Amino acid sequence: MRLNAYLARAGVASRRKADDLIKAGRVTVNGELGQLNTFVESRDRVEVDGTRVAKQPLAYLLLNKPGATVTTASDPQGRPTVVQLVPGEPRVVPVGRLDADTTGALLLTNDGELAHRLAHPRYGVDKTYVVELSRAPSDDQIEQLAAGVELDDGPTAPAQARRVTKNTIELTIHEGRNRQVKRMVEAIGHRVTRLHRSRYAGLSADDLEPGTWRELTADEVQRLRRGA
Ligand code: URA
Repeated sequence: MRLNAYLARAGVASRRKADDLIKAGRVTVNGELGQLNTFVESRDRVEVDGTRVAKQPLAYLLLNKPGATVTTASDPQGRPTVVQLVPGEPRVVPVGRLDADTTGALLLTNDGELAHRLAHPRYGVDKTYVVELSRAPSDDQIEQLAAGVELDDGPTAPAQARRVTKNTIELTIHEGRNRQVKRMVEAIGHRVTRLHRSRYAGLSADDLEPGTWRELTADEVQRLRRGA
């Protein structure tokens, strides 16, 4: 694998930051200065600032994200992050992003390749949200959400939408644009008062207490790989 991917799998840094370490001449492979295009295998000796680093096992965690947590590894404003809720070793990062006030299923992994594929619009991973609105939407408006609405970055793809209670709908989308659900709801003249992701790529975290996580089973990982 590429040296930056190896360093990411070793928990040293994200791939982008790993590139900076390589460019700064802080990484050696079998005693030679590593380059951006260096490929490494497990028998190679990789050192950062003279200390040996090694690839870590792949980890796949499903978190029931609580409200008031940000989906980044570190927040400049010092708010609590989802990464603080899971073990630091091996180092995992969130797949995609949920708004700070959104709750529910969030996958974290150090499998960069799978994370990249899951987050790629081409694979259209299903994301199901329970959406509470400030007022009851009409049946027509729910149908509009399903058919697609116009947003400032283009129309949304067909989705599944159904009413759950007077003010609550369930919406399944296959895209993952920034604040997509809230913007879709705004496009039909409503406002989201609560947003919960009940399923991500078929995985639900609703049986976990908010703020707790579990490892995916081998079967679940296989299914994600097949689906993406
Ligand atoms: N759509 C949103 O508007 N926010 C989220 O957190 C996820 C999807």
